[in-house]
Amino acid sequence: MIAGALGGGHLALIVVGALIVVRVGVGATRRRRMGTRQDDGGGGRPVPADGAAPKVVRRTAPPSPTQVGEPVLDVRDLTVTYGPKRAVDGVSFAIGRGEIFGLLGPNGAGKTSTLSAIEGLVRPRTGTIEIDGLDVWHRPIEAKRKLGVQLQATSFQSELTIREIVRLYAGLYGIGLTDDEILERLRSSGLGDDADRPFKHLSGGQQQRLSLLVALLHEPVLLLLDEPTTSLDPQSRRQLWSRIEHIRDGGGSILLTTHSMEEAQAVCERVAIIDYGTIVAIDAPSRLVEEHRDDPRALAVARGEVTLEDVFIALTGSDIRE
Ligand SMILES: Nc1ncnc2c1ncn2[C@@H]1O[C@H](COP(=O)(O)OP(=O)(O)OP(=O)(O)O)[C@@H](O)[C@H]1O
Ligand SMILES: [Mg+2]
Repeated sequence: MIAGALGGGHLALIVVGALIVVRVGVGATRRRRMGTRQDDGGGGRPVPADGAAPKVVRRTAPPSPTQVGEPVLDVRDLTVTYGPKRAVDGVSFAIGRGEIFGLLGPNGAGKTSTLSAIEGLVRPRTGTIEIDGLDVWHRPIEAKRKLGVQLQATSFQSELTIREIVRLYAGLYGIGLTDDEILERLRSSGLGDDADRPFKHLSGGQQQRLSLLVALLHEPVLLLLDEPTTSLDPQSRRQLWSRIEHIRDGGGSILLTTHSMEEAQAVCERVAIIDYGTIVAIDAPSRLVEEHRDDPRALAVARGEVTLEDVFIALTGSDIRE
């Protein structure tokens, strides 16, 4: 169980707030729109050139949000808008204790926006989000205490050393760690020899390990990882898989986004495929493959046996997104 003694939750808010800067930067790079019309109701789904109403085909049964007994995360009917843009459109899903759940979707599908709403960084237009039974908007401080977050792009103060960064964030979370305890945590993340290196000199893999360590400092019950393995080498990627499986095996819950179907298949108990802000499928990866083994759309793109990636393309189409 990654839950443990939790303290300084109000300061956890500050940490999430500090990281907003990074998220805003990421969002700002996403303003380029694909060929969607401004009058498409804000949904972003491409409108046929002839102006006919876009066909919305739900190809699998609507997912049940209550597939898990006692959810650690319960998202119901979540809608997130940015002005006229409907980035998340009525999304519901639940994650159980000790589950690794993957949120998959093409670029611009609404994955980060979903995570932002769970993190309390954007206010949903509709819907409810509960973390371990706590409503994120009505009990934000207690809910955020239970949450560990690694954003899609995380940056720390570049001149600070790893050791200083861990001490700073432990302080913000209200966790008293001795120098030996900090070093022990760094060692367990494979950063023991780099404790005195400034952040700006770290490799991508080291930065990723540090941001995961920081996300876990306050021992959250739910960990949100937005594309945690993008740009990692195979060794670092496998190490991250082992770490999150270890967290899962201890009863922790993880929600991750990824573009790697191999990763989703390797570590996720269940995945949801989101497209244009709507969940189009939700199930165990192996069951999705099984369900679509004879699907002509999957067979048309398969290069041998139908894989999860073939199912993903069958459900979301072949067009390049944002
Ligand atoms: N701050 C914002 N202002 C306006 N539009 C935004 C903002 N953030 C995201 N969007 C738009 O909302 C939609 C969903 O974006 P989001 O970042 O959630 O997608 P994503 O699934 O995480 O994509 P990616 O795989 O590229 O990270 C996109 O069309 C994006 O351009
Ligand atoms: Mg994203």
